[in-house]
Amino acid sequence: MLKSLTVDLKTREDIQKMREAGALLAGAVERLRARVRPGVCTAELDASVEADLRSQGAKPAFLGYRGYPATLCVSINDEVVHGIPTQQRLLRDGDVVSFDLGCKWRGFFADMAVTVAVGEVSPEARRLIATTRTALEKGIAAVRPGARIGDVGWAVQECAEAAGFSVVRDFVGHGIGRALHEDPAIPNYGKPGTGVRLQPGMVLAIEPMVNCGGPEVRVLEDRWTAVTGDGRLSAHFEHTVAVTEDGPSVLTRLEEGLGQGR
Ligand code: MF3
Ligand code: CO
Repeated sequence: MLKSLTVDLKTREDIQKMREAGALLAGAVERLRARVRPGVCTAELDASVEADLRSQGAKPAFLGYRGYPATLCVSINDEVVHGIPTQQRLLRDGDVVSFDLGCKWRGFFADMAVTVAVGEVSPEARRLIATTRTALEKGIAAVRPGARIGDVGWAVQECAEAAGFSVVRDFVGHGIGRALHEDPAIPNYGKPGTGVRLQPGMVLAIEPMVNCGGPEVRVLEDRWTAVTGDGRLSAHFEHTVAVTEDGPSVLTRLEEGLGQGR
């Protein structure tokens, strides 16, 4: 028996609002990146990005979501996702840091993640970050009407595994719109030609989590922070992507010329 899905298709007007949400979010992420330096505490980054969103009239999407206590997820080194910002945790030279952030704007959500290097990081860390970013771009490139969720997952997986890395199975991407998490689930692995068929009006949060070592993760005592089972590095990138007649449209990309926007 197949589980039935409720896929909410967005109108042009809906997608326009989501594009505004995405642009606003991408700007906040860019300003967040500018604050990254050794010695900054993660709670300070959280407070600044929350103020940034609110000053633009947007609401943090994660704060209070299933009891999550912050605006930002900050996941450092072997932390995969959902690291909670604290006063005690300082960024250090050589850290690999993932920031995951969502906002709500005019009734719609946008969701985005980036991984950055703090100061000088190892060659392996640099390769992990670059590969995870490329895996996301490959997943996005597989998005078009008629393609399947498995095509997206396979594109991501193939890229990560060709580099000798593994993709996390325990967390997946998702539809997004009036809710932060909507159907369908978007695994970062899959078989080409399988799964839900993509159609114009779907909006997807595609979010590869890639590990240097094995794919296993476990959740810490705080009930949120997910870490790699083997203690090796992990990276995470995410974009909110609309399926259009012409293919993918990335809603969380910065305007050209304003920075890397990735
Ligand atoms: N960005 C995460 C996701 O896409 C959401 C974090 S869950 C929260 O699923 F609880 F931290 F908000
Ligand atoms: Co997400």
